[in-house]
Amino acid sequence: MSAPSVGAAPVRTAVVGLGWAARSIWLPRLLRNPAFTVTAAVDPDERGRAAVAGTEGADRLPVLAAVHDLDPAEVDLAVVAVPNHLHCAVATELLAKGIAVFLEKPVCLTSEEAERLAAAERSGGAVLLAGSAARYRADVRGLYRIAARLGHIRHVELAWVRARGVPDRGGWFTQRSLAGGGALVDLGWHLFDIAVPLLPTATFRHAIGTVSADFIAQRSSGAAWRGEGGAAPSGGTDVEDTARGFLVTDDGRSVVLHASWASHEALDTTRITIDGSAGSATLRCTFGFSPNRLEKSTLTRTVDGRTRPVAVPTEPVGTEYDRQLDALPALLRDPAGQGRVIEEVRRTIGAIERVYTSARTPQEAQGPRESAPV
Ligand SMILES: NC(=O)c1ccc[n+]([C@@H]2O[C@H](COP(=O)([O-])OP(=O)(O)OC[C@H]3O[C@@H](n4cnc5c(N)ncnc54)[C@H](O)[C@@H]3O)[C@@H](O)[C@H]2O)c1
Repeated sequence: MSAPSVGAAPVRTAVVGLGWAARSIWLPRLLRNPAFTVTAAVDPDERGRAAVAGTEGADRLPVLAAVHDLDPAEVDLAVVAVPNHLHCAVATELLAKGIAVFLEKPVCLTSEEAERLAAAERSGGAVLLAGSAARYRADVRGLYRIAARLGHIRHVELAWVRARGVPDRGGWFTQRSLAGGGALVDLGWHLFDIAVPLLPTATFRHAIGTVSADFIAQRSSGAAWRGEGGAAPSGGTDVEDTARGFLVTDDGRSVVLHASWASHEALDTTRITIDGSAGSATLRCTFGFSPNRLEKSTLTRTVDGRTRPVAVPTEPVGTEYDRQLDALPALLRDPAGQGRVIEEVRRTIGAIERVYTSARTPQEAQGPRESAPV
């Protein structure tokens, strides 16, 4: 954890949405990071507010029921971790009143929402930042360094395949109207995020894909680290547990993407392969908080038929979130920051929309049929 820059006051931060991500990832890190002072917590649900009131270090925090009550004169930054369908509404309200927002992934669920966020960022004058923790992993940074020595990047393969780990089965995560989709918007967002520095200016000319849901209803497919291991889904599910995509950029490069909340595998594996004109590289590791992890991260580089290991550290789980938090104060102060995140977001959500559109079967694309007259 880095110390705040000399003379910089701690960033006065409100945590918005007090569920698993806020309580497990952000609140504990914000409370122990001297660059931040947590000044408020917001959740309309009494259970979230009560849980925070019972957290050491947060027990005297003002807990509010709505972002409407946050005063821009007293808050520099809102860390927003609400259900996906509320990202745009909550973040635009905050941005429009001049409060900078650090918004969890998926930043938005449609291209139209991306434009609403962009408009709110412009009108309020505060910056939109986004959860991009995977880019802050030391092994991913090692891969980026090697990528710079692979010549022209031709092809990137991105896979995050969990053995099991469907979040909140039967809750909002597995309902399309509340989550916007399944593994593609959840894990796939992280994968697209990893690709941005590799293909920084690329726009996708083609994007096709498939989705399936063979595992979501199985008793063992829940996310154990969220305390949801073997329980059967509490409600209905209508999203994919697996998505596969194939994308081609305007300048003729390709991306293969595979995101699975559950699979036939024993361990959760993230694998990123980059094929360049002067060599290729592969990183194998495990993203996220799952206990079904590879023991260590491995990075290899292949040139002229010889594959060599490249040393990368295996860090304690969650280190990337500390590192991203450390980077936020400078990003908040950066006068060129406005509009930067939304540029990336437009590309990501545009690609996700197109993969979903292509994955719909002809029957689904036609919509529900009117029943024939009897
Ligand atoms: N970056 C990561 O690794 C990571 C991990 C988990 C979740 N997430 C993201 O974080 C977000 C939250 O996920 P979660 O697992 O904490 O969900 P959750 O359901 O556990 O928590 C969401 C919380 O938001 C609250 N809420 C609902 N409406 C609100 C509003 N208008 N204002 C304030 N609070 C509101 C809910 O009451 C709930 O307490 C999701 O977008 C998810 O994709 C990111």
